[in-house]
Amino acid sequence: MNADAVQQYQHRTVLLDEAVDALALSGDRVNGVYVDGTFGRGGHSRKILQQLGSGGRLLAFDKDTQAIANAATINDQRFEIAHDSFATLSEALAVRGIKQVDGVLLDLGISSPQVDDATRGFSFRADGPLDMRMDTTRGMSAAEWLATETEQKIEKVIRDYGEERFAFQIAKAIVARRAVEPISSTRQLAEIVARTVKTREKGKDPATRTFQAIRIFINQELEELEVVLDEAYRYLAPHGRLVVISFHSLEDRIVKQFMAGKANVPQPDRRLPIRAVDLPQPEMKLLSRVKPSAAEISENPRARSAVMRVAERLSSGTGGAA
Ligand SMILES: C[S@@+](CC[C@H](N)C(=O)[O-])C[C@H]1O[C@@H](n2cnc3c(N)ncnc32)[C@H](O)[C@@H]1O
Repeated sequence: MNADAVQQYQHRTVLLDEAVDALALSGDRVNGVYVDGTFGRGGHSRKILQQLGSGGRLLAFDKDTQAIANAATINDQRFEIAHDSFATLSEALAVRGIKQVDGVLLDLGISSPQVDDATRGFSFRADGPLDMRMDTTRGMSAAEWLATETEQKIEKVIRDYGEERFAFQIAKAIVARRAVEPISSTRQLAEIVARTVKTREKGKDPATRTFQAIRIFINQELEELEVVLDEAYRYLAPHGRLVVISFHSLEDRIVKQFMAGKANVPQPDRRLPIRAVDLPQPEMKLLSRVKPSAAEISENPRARSAVMRVAERLSSGTGGAA
């Protein structure tokens, strides 16, 4: 790993105070167990540690080795980081003998250092190897995937995860080009897309949707989000908080539907003779939906698409404890 890259690129944490406040580290909860599923450069984690009592514990995750190197600079016995997907939450808690957690925070997607470092291959703005893996120690790079995947699957990924109208044409152009030369750089891919997409969206590079789609696919972002929401819910203690910051509509839809599904329980026909105590009870309470202020967006334009949703577990947590 390039040690300079760890220092060189900075991340400005989005909704820093709002997200940590939403975890509500007060009263007994101050000595609780918290999870930061997306350490990044530790903006949220460091603030949680400032508010955490001496008996509290913070377990963080990140797939990125540079994030892990940054976390190594935190010298605090209450803190630990796992170099793994947050989708391994329940195994990580079980291994540590943790039966319940008081809060789980997810600040989804990629960090600014990942976007800004051209060697990571996430950005169409600078030329670099077409990698796009958050965890460069495992899995297939975007270049390897595009070299071997069928045209139909490439089209489906670009359409489903990029919501791209020209998915058919882009996939066709990718497959035609790879027959001539390997597509191994971000610039090559951006140029193929730019030549293929015929209409321009205001303020948006034509490659935006395709890059988003391939990144989501390569990192299994939506599948892992679905897993972690379930696992987080199972481990949350009563009054435990789930705080999720999303950056695009596909993520936010999953979070919204998950929380709504736990909060809005279908009720049986009211004419049926069912006692109130036997009625299905909501499992979570929706607390808030927050967007960054205009001031935050003007200081950090990457915050503009962020949406944070917060829900609280109502019934008792049984996951690891059962
Ligand atoms: C938006 S950044 C988080 C920034 C962080 N809150 C901060 O204040 O510095 C997202 C981070 O989560 C990591 N990440 C995204 N999905 C992940 C997953 N499924 N498992 C583990 N880490 C993930 C990325 O590698 C990236 O470092």
